[in-house]
Amino acid sequence: RAVLLLNGPNLNLLGTRDPAQYGTTTLEEVERRVTSLGRELGVEVVCAQSNSEGALVDRIHEARGWAGVVLNPGAYAHYGIALRDAIDAVEAPVVEVHISNVYAREEFRHTSVTAPVAAGYVAGCGVFGYELALRAVLRRDAERRE
Ligand code: DQA
Repeated sequence: RAVLLLNGPNLNLLGTRDPAQYGTTTLEEVERRVTSLGRELGVEVVCAQSNSEGALVDRIHEARGWAGVVLNPGAYAHYGIALRDAIDAVEAPVVEVHISNVYAREEFRHTSVTAPVAAGYVAGCGVFGYELALRAVLRRDAERRE
């Protein structure tokens, strides 16, 4: 079984983009950590990143039948209805991650259109949130298969 680690817009810049908010860890390093945790937990982690909403939707469709998805939707969380509908349509558990504490930031980041259809939500834990989300996806997947 496989889990998709999917990162949205601007997260390819992780490490150099606004380090006060997002830290200095690169996306490559995040992918390495989550993949290695996956190996420990007995699941393959497939990593992808895109800056466009349509490509993220396509990726989520491909994860149909997988163990689940760890998704940082980036700014699409705040208004991406197509992404929201894709999460709703795929039966695999999708756990949403935000590196920063979006609730301590601008008001427009306090809304998530994706969170209500996500299987779980992690925010403000830094890049460690991705590891928490992987564990949560696997727990949800085990529960639904019980
Ligand atoms: C983010 C938070 C979003 O508001 C922002 O647009 C991002 C990153 C986070 O990981 O904290 O691109 O999703």
